[in-house]
Amino acid sequence: MHSPLSDTDFSFSAVAELADDQRWSTWSSVEKGARGPKPRPSWVVTDDAAVDTELGVLKTGKEADVFLVERAVPGDSERACILAAKRYRSAEHRQFHRDTGYVEGRRTRRTRDARAMAKGTAFGRLVAAGQWAQAEFAALSSLWSAGVPVSYPVQIDGTEILMEFIGADGVAAPRLAQVRPSRDLVEGYFDQLTAAMGVLARRGIAHGDLSPYNILVDGDRVVIIDLPQVVDIVGNPNGMEFLARDCRNVCSWFNSRGFAADPDDLFAELIAQAY
Ligand SMILES: Nc1ncnc2c1ncn2[C@@H]1O[C@H](COP(=O)(O)OP(=O)(O)O)[C@@H](O)[C@H]1O
Ligand SMILES: [Mg+2]
Repeated sequence: MHSPLSDTDFSFSAVAELADDQRWSTWSSVEKGARGPKPRPSWVVTDDAAVDTELGVLKTGKEADVFLVERAVPGDSERACILAAKRYRSAEHRQFHRDTGYVEGRRTRRTRDARAMAKGTAFGRLVAAGQWAQAEFAALSSLWSAGVPVSYPVQIDGTEILMEFIGADGVAAPRLAQVRPSRDLVEGYFDQLTAAMGVLARRGIAHGDLSPYNILVDGDRVVIIDLPQVVDIVGNPNGMEFLARDCRNVCSWFNSRGFAADPDDLFAELIAQAY
């Protein structure tokens, strides 16, 4: 692992040599519209002089890997932030189980991209990975603006999303599945999650893969993650079923922690909000 930037002597000539696990901040090189919504949180480092340093892997998955990245201005400890970098895979061996079901009713605007995807070429797979990244970035952006507890999306660059890291001292916040909180906290989590699901329902969407594995616990608050597959409740023929499954997954965690939660009641309430 690289030594912390702040401990390094970064005179101008030294900066020109980046280590293998570093790059110049990609903040100013991403296209217009590829940065997160405003008002931008003050912790986001936007300096041209910033350097991105890889700090390690948080989790490898079937479709994407999540890494820990520091974006910091060398020698300026005030201008530093820790980010989660979610990188979608475009490789041959990736198992893209989300490619079916979720995407019905979605369209690919560029016909060249659509044709490449249909043919399954290397370029086509890159386009598909980029589209999942794009879908997740768009969902994070609009939900963050709507006040839903999600990671702030800093930027998207091709198949890579940089977002707010949920955790402390480089250790990721635990998933809901891993914790056994006090009764008060459990109640609070239920209120937060059902409120968040309500905001989604009023926008006509469901998370589509909501479970105790895609909810992080950050002290007394929960943060919803992993949103590439948000589904249109009405427009997607499987929309209702995805919503019902989200309700079941969430309620069974609460029931397992001794807090009675009825998935059918929750589903009915969300459907009522959707219309
Ligand atoms: N913003 C984040 N902050 C902290 N940890 C994260 C963040 N995003 C993802 N992770 C970690 O990476 C794991 C995988 O991320 P996720 O978005 O669920 O991808 P997938 O399940 O598709 O691999 C999460 O369970 C969590 O441990
Ligand atoms: Mg996940």
